[in-house]
Amino acid sequence: MSAVDKLRLDDRVAVVTGAAGGIGSAACRHLASLGASVVAADRDESVRAVAEEIAAAGGRADWIAFDVSDSASVDAARDEVLSRHGRVDALFANAGMSYERPGAEHSDEDWRRVMRINLDGVYFTIRAFAAGMLERGRGAVVATSSIAGVKVVRPELHVGYDVSKAGVAHMCRVLGVEWARRGVRVNAVGPGYTDTVMLTEVGIKQPEVMARWMDDQPIGRLVSPAEIANAVGFLLSDAASGITAQLLMVDGGYSAA
Ligand SMILES: NC(=O)c1ccc[n+]([C@@H]2O[C@H](COP(=O)([O-])OP(=O)(O)OC[C@H]3O[C@@H](n4cnc5c(N)ncnc54)[C@H](O)[C@@H]3O)[C@@H](O)[C@H]2O)c1
Repeated sequence: MSAVDKLRLDDRVAVVTGAAGGIGSAACRHLASLGASVVAADRDESVRAVAEEIAAAGGRADWIAFDVSDSASVDAARDEVLSRHGRVDALFANAGMSYERPGAEHSDEDWRRVMRINLDGVYFTIRAFAAGMLERGRGAVVATSSIAGVKVVRPELHVGYDVSKAGVAHMCRVLGVEWARRGVRVNAVGPGYTDTVMLTEVGIKQPEVMARWMDDQPIGRLVSPAEIANAVGFLLSDAASGITAQLLMVDGGYSAA
């Protein structure tokens, strides 16, 4: 197998959550371009369009709608994916939400909501989809952390988000080590400020905030969703066979500066 072939995901079934969004949809396109049979998942049924676009371009893609914060919904989706595709080889647990609220002003529900989606949701998703990988002794998982999980980002205020993303990175370390001899690798990817709809709106409504982010981000620009997808594809592929329990930052140098 050539070095380039090791990056390919031919005939692997890859599930991507948060696939209706900026990073998730880019990951679906990228994994399909590497030969994977992609299952684009989101609670928003507009995810269907991502699968249709990939299929129209000649790739293999299916879609499914479920809520990652509801473990019964996640387990039912896993059963449905298994009945349609037989197995899952790769998982990108990427669904997440953000918000803005000062640290002393979170209601119980503000706190629970972000933990339910960003932390419980990633765990429920990994638990459900990694089960078959562990049985077969083969598979790879990537989850989405953030620069906010390793460094205090400013001027945004969202302590619950930051803690949830630190938790995702550590969850991947713990599971990566626990499953290292069982053939299942678990890593996290840490996006920096990424060129998605959410951030474009900040640029329009709060240009001074965007200017500060650009100043803080050593490469002086937003990271693209495709750049995050490149890292995810690598981590899910055999080219990363020696890498587990790691957080790979794709942040233009932000976390090092
Ligand atoms: N955009 C950035 O700059 C940035 C930076 C660091 C980390 N991240 C993380 O990257 C991931 C993807 O973010 P994005 O920028 O593509 O945002 P996005 O809002 O475009 O995509 C998030 C997707 O997750 C889905 N989702 C939310 N809650 C869900 C639930 N309970 N069940 C199923 N799906 C759900 C949404 O419907 C949406 O399609 C998130 O985890 C986010 O926290 C983003």
